[in-house]
Amino acid sequence: MISVENIRDNFPILSQKVYGKSLIYLDNAATSQRPLSVIDFQESFSRECNANVHRAVHSLSGIATDLYESGREAVRSFLDAEYKEEIIFTSGTTASINLMAHSFVEAFCARGDVIVISQAEHHSNIVPWQMAALRTGIEVKVAPINRDGSIDLEELREILKDKRVKLLSITHISNVLGVVNPIQEIVKIAHNQGVKVLVDGAQGVVHSLISVRETDVDFYAFSGHKIYAPTGIGVLYGKRELLDIMPPFMGGGDMVDTVTFEKTIYAPLPLKFEAGTQNIAAVASLKPALEFAMQISDNDEFVNRERQIVEYVTKELNVIEGLTILGTATPKIPLFSFVIDGVHHEDVAQILDKMGVAVRSGLVCAEPLINSYGYTGIIRASFAPYNTLEEAQIFIKSLHRAISMLK
Ligand SMILES: Cc1ncc(COP(=O)(O)O)c(C=O)c1O
Repeated sequence: MISVENIRDNFPILSQKVYGKSLIYLDNAATSQRPLSVIDFQESFSRECNANVHRAVHSLSGIATDLYESGREAVRSFLDAEYKEEIIFTSGTTASINLMAHSFVEAFCARGDVIVISQAEHHSNIVPWQMAALRTGIEVKVAPINRDGSIDLEELREILKDKRVKLLSITHISNVLGVVNPIQEIVKIAHNQGVKVLVDGAQGVVHSLISVRETDVDFYAFSGHKIYAPTGIGVLYGKRELLDIMPPFMGGGDMVDTVTFEKTIYAPLPLKFEAGTQNIAAVASLKPALEFAMQISDNDEFVNRERQIVEYVTKELNVIEGLTILGTATPKIPLFSFVIDGVHHEDVAQILDKMGVAVRSGLVCAEPLINSYGYTGIIRASFAPYNTLEEAQIFIKSLHRAISMLK
């Protein structure tokens, strides 16, 4: 069992030095670091198990296929989905949403129908819908948030009353605000109007366990690299009866039953949506990655420390003169986006880097949201379960020093 004390031993990268200082990695919302269980698994897969899946009769292919499918079972269990076929592998959240913007729109939308997103979306939950709108004549509407970063449920209810709305595509947790959206309540509101719901879980899966059955979401997307797995692998969960109706997004090998020059019969779920050779080792390594994530979510010590960090950093940021935090509503994960009067975000991030503290700065792929607050960039510090309270204290101290150098 992983304890708060020894968790960092699982992450070799955390013992690195930056400019002679111990690395304090606070860019976890961009990508998380990988534990040894995942690093070792990936290496041993390459050394001992590498083959293509589903196609050959030789033993090595059988081993690779079993490991690949065990990745699917791990995701099914992690999301509490009913069927393994409801788990589709993509290259990431972005690819999952693009798949939806093609296949869902083709199956369920006509010209003039509406897809609703929220004001707090990452570009990957904005741009694919705008592209679909240009392609198909659907409309994209934006549901507003309150100033504190919470979703305006009354407005959302009103917007979803429009009979033309076919899908609400909304983030679980915004990568800027860190505020947790009440997914179960949102799904109920949408379903009352006959609207399906896609949740962008890129940040959500990392900080709150989701049961797709309990919340009754229709679709849920996430990326492996934000939850201890390698880059280049992602998931789209979808209810079987909906995925069954949707046409494939891409054509090619492995997604077919029979092919003639005249016509193709597609393979059943989930392969219908997995054309070509996938990132097999990364799929398989979702199993150790999600096992690691489950151990942490089940551990009260980690949950308490996350709460402690949220309280400590919020309190400390609030006393800095001229500093404004974006996203103050609760519940909130330890992700802090802020601006400081008279100080450029990039300058702060660069000075912090020299002090060994890695934070993100800029528009963090959420330009419309950040612009709506009246800013052109932010500083973002996002914590993972392997970050300590002591690191949070060093971050705050370093931030004070950086500001005093710049003002
Ligand atoms: C909320 C949210 N959605 C979507 C994405 C896109 O994820 P990916 O780049 O892994 O496809 C991110 C990545 O930062 C995110 O934070």
